[in-house]
Amino acid sequence: TTGEPVRLVEVAARDGLQNESEVLPVAMRVELLERLADTGFRHLEAGAFVSPRWVPQMQQTREVLGRLNRRPDITYSVLVPNSRGFESARAAGVDEVAVFTAASEAFAHHNINCSIAESLARFEPIMPLAAQAGIRVRGYISCVLGCPYAGDVDPRKVATIARQLFDMGCYEVSLGDTTGIGTPRRTRELIEACARQLPVGALAGHFHDTWGMAVANVQAALEAGVRVFDGSVSALGGCPYAPGATGNVATESLVRLLESQGFDTGIDLERLVDVAEWVDRKLSRRMPSPVARAIRAN
Ligand code: HMG
Ligand code: MG
Repeated sequence: TTGEPVRLVEVAARDGLQNESEVLPVAMRVELLERLADTGFRHLEAGAFVSPRWVPQMQQTREVLGRLNRRPDITYSVLVPNSRGFESARAAGVDEVAVFTAASEAFAHHNINCSIAESLARFEPIMPLAAQAGIRVRGYISCVLGCPYAGDVDPRKVATIARQLFDMGCYEVSLGDTTGIGTPRRTRELIEACARQLPVGALAGHFHDTWGMAVANVQAALEAGVRVFDGSVSALGGCPYAPGATGNVATESLVRLLESQGFDTGIDLERLVDVAEWVDRKLSRRMPSPVARAIRAN
């Protein structure tokens, strides 16, 4: 197609698998990433260099990256919470790292065991090292539309943190609705508040579908000017520190929604559904994405 480009960041190998009860074998994680690469993604989140005591599922991210047949036209990124994580990422030769904080103090403490300000202070020393190594840095903010521990979150607070990440050198800030509590109206208000602090082109939407609102929220963010969305094949995902939170918006749904409005995602939806089927078979789960099911039924 020749529509306006949108960029999709496929996070299943990280956000998806970090929430599985088992630690999945390296070979399976590598195969997932290779299959996703074959569907047209240009940006794959491959894992995380975090404490194995906190998130055991992301152990062996180094081995996953080592075994991948990395393609020059794909950005491979990993999450890093601190300098130690960054050093591992650099040694593994990634193109990009993502630092992550939260819009609520309670969630920051549960997820990364520090305050928001402390987390930002941990990211500061990473920035010049990343610049030197030619590694781009993306920023994540969790709980942008509500917190499982603290409830409501003020959009202005999110906007302030987004601005801090941007000023620090994050080229993009992904706004995470960790628990899927968001609604389209609140999503629009959030994007508007953030767009007063940094260019809307530097924002990405990261919606979880716990309440079934993710696609509606993506649409609201799209209408507010966002052109980058995170998704997870077959709606895999969650966060170990957000009890009950289910998967990310299915990338299949993102592709269907965006392409139907003339945007060009670059993704082959048929092949993506093949990947959804494959991963669901591997994980013994039933395909949760309505788009994938409809495509298979027709
Ligand atoms: P801590 O316990 O305060 O830190 O954890 P520490 O410095 O005392 O370290 C604890 C242990 O971890 C030590 O090992 C360190 O060496 C080790 P021990 O002495 O016990 O053997 N350690 C590390 N190991 C590997 N890589 C590292 C690293 N750093 C320390 N980088 C810490 C603080 C930040 C490390 C911890 O809380 C942590 O790793 N948290 C990660 C939590 C996480 O990964 N959550 C999921 C991702 S975020 C998410 O899903 C949200 C998102 O999708 C957006 C959304 O939906 O909202 C992005
Ligand atoms: Mg997430």
